[in-house]
Amino acid sequence: MCATEKNNIEREEVLHAPVMVDEIIANLSLRPEMIVVDATVGCGGHAGEILKRILPGGKLIGIDRDRESLNIASQVLKEFTSFNLVYGNFRNLNQILQSQNLKFVDAILFDLGVSSAQLLNPERGFSFRKEGPLDMRMDRSSCILAYDLINNLREEELSRLFWAFGQERYHRRIARFLIRARQKALITSTVQLAQVVTGAIPYCPRYRRIHPATRTFQALRIAVNRELEALEQGLKKAVDLLKQGGRIAVISFHSLEDRIVKRNFREGAASGKLKIITPKPLRPSQKERVQNPRSRSAAFRVAERL
Ligand SMILES: C[S@@+](CC[C@H](N)C(=O)[O-])C[C@H]1O[C@@H](n2cnc3c(N)ncnc32)[C@H](O)[C@@H]1O
Repeated sequence: MCATEKNNIEREEVLHAPVMVDEIIANLSLRPEMIVVDATVGCGGHAGEILKRILPGGKLIGIDRDRESLNIASQVLKEFTSFNLVYGNFRNLNQILQSQNLKFVDAILFDLGVSSAQLLNPERGFSFRKEGPLDMRMDRSSCILAYDLINNLREEELSRLFWAFGQERYHRRIARFLIRARQKALITSTVQLAQVVTGAIPYCPRYRRIHPATRTFQALRIAVNRELEALEQGLKKAVDLLKQGGRIAVISFHSLEDRIVKRNFREGAASGKLKIITPKPLRPSQKERVQNPRSRSAAFRVAERL
């Protein structure tokens, strides 16, 4: 295999396959000249599909709090004109759009969580399957790492965190095992953490459909990146930045996120600002679930600005 082929394969492996593309395209009613915000541009998969439909005359603003994701997106989108990539947190959506001289836009997409590029890079510390530092920051300029939480929080705080953000039924045992482990040595790596967590969970095949460390890692990632707060604030701002008839679409990957989206859309509808387009979340097709297992837990909701 020549070097270029190998590079292409490696690139494909780390590139993120965008989920529920057909559903997004259909529900955002995309057409030329629209101004669309991709609030989580990631590797640019959705952004490319959106750009194909809003050109000529349209414009895409792609936001990410991870500079590495923005670098990937700029490569992936290089065939297009009419897009701006902005480094920032979507919780500051109003300031970000102001900086782009935009008051109102036609559509805003949120595709939550981490990208495959982030997950598959061991240096980022998101995966329990790969040895890496306990980092988990989407924005590498922020100060708190998973390492800090794991090695400094008290037992009750850890336990609460694993329950609140991971809905981990063994939250107390995991916290207890972690305190015991860190009395011997600090916990510094992903694999080391996964081993302690696995040791804390009693063996029960029924609960082994997912890796025993899945929920703990999810909880830590959400806490490190303050993901639920950002979602709450980002959604509220997004509603006020939509033109009349503009649409907001959110893909979430766990029930905590979906609950926030559902509640915000309901509140928007109750206050006369939104019409809910998807009373129940749309799910990926069977074909997509097979082709892209990451899509399996996706829930997609859409609302329209009144
Ligand atoms: C699931 S990926 C998006 C993938 C993208 N739709 C694609 O097709 O390639 C989520 C991205 O959102 C970014 N992200 C998560 N929370 C964010 C926030 N509050 N503000 C800005 N970006 C965020 C992550 O860094 C990640 O790159």
